Amino acid sequence: MKLAFLGLGVMGYPMAGHLAKAGHDVTVYNRTAAKAEAWVKEHGGARRASPAEAAEGAAIVFMCVGNDDDVRAVAAGDKGALAGMRSGAVLVDHTTASAEVAREVHAAAAATGVGFLDAPVSGGQAGAVNGRLTVMVGGDEPAFRTAEPVMRHYGQAVTLMGPSGSGQLTKMVNQILLAGLIQGLAEGLNFAVRVGLDAKKAVEVISKGAAQSWQLENRAATMLDGKFDFGFAVDWMRKDLSICLAEARRRKAALPVTALVDQFYERVQERGGSRWDTSALIHLLAKP
Ligand SMILES: NC(=O)c1ccc[n+]([C@@H]2O[C@H](COP(=O)([O-])OP(=O)(O)OC[C@H]3O[C@@H](n4cnc5c(N)ncnc54)[C@H](OP(=O)(O)O)[C@@H]3O)[C@@H](O)[C@H]2O)c1
Repeated sequence: MKLAFLGLGVMGYPMAGHLAKAGHDVTVYNRTAAKAEAWVKEHGGARRASPAEAAEGAAIVFMCVGNDDDVRAVAAGDKGALAGMRSGAVLVDHTTASAEVAREVHAAAAATGVGFLDAPVSGGQAGAVNGRLTVMVGGDEPAFRTAEPVMRHYGQAVTLMGPSGSGQLTKMVNQILLAGLIQGLAEGLNFAVRVGLDAKKAVEVISKGAAQSWQLENRAATMLDGKFDFGFAVDWMRKDLSICLAEARRRKAALPVTALVDQFYERVQERGGSRWDTSALIHLLAKP
């Protein structure tokens, strides 16, 4: 298929790579041209100077940028993806953004006969590189049917959750769960250390029981070692939590623990931990 991919960051670069490796004809755009140049050198295909030019003639256009404003900048406007897309094509946004911006772009796309799917992902950089992401999708059935087989090149689970915005709402649930979970893990591990247990041994025992989790399995050891220079950055987490908290205020859904953990992340940022992994919450307890 003729495809386009806009935004070759930590996530977008390997995701677009999977599409090229699967044999699709991929045209890319990246704001910083050097990354697009490197991508074309590695994977072939073509690069263009604007989202609109890259999107021209593509059956499906994928994008993965930073936040709501970036989504608007890349999807809309004179040089945005929609300006280059023809009726019947589909725009898929893998950015973690608000449900509101998803509905806004969905409406703008529908006005020109283009399908739009909000399709945030989880699984991190490793999931993008290994092609094992979870993709949570909001939008219309026909657009989903077109894009789903292609998203399978990097998604081990690709699920249509409901109308436009539902993908972003599902990702919010994911981030709300993570916030409470990581803080609980940080408190438990710090407690184990303070009471003089062999904390790694405690983790080993506990990991077979009801407190088991992906975070416990994959982050407990590095949290105990005070290593945070990898993974999902605190800055990104705070962007995601601000989206969750705004949506919760609108819908009157209480998020007391999430709001508190967001303040803890702010303190991690103040310590210079903006790019640290989200598991850095333990730093506040270990080094108060
Ligand atoms: N990293 C993760 O583990 C992870 C996991 C799940 C979800 N996500 C989400 O996926 C999205 C991308 O994350 P990432 O880690 O790939 O970020 P990243 O490495 O910072 O890449 C962001 C990409 O978006 C482009 N971009 C940003 N603003 C733009 C704008 N206004 N106009 C044009 N291009 C713009 C950047 O271009 P430049 O190269 O020019 O800066 C870059 O290609 C975010 O919404 C993030 O929350 C990330």
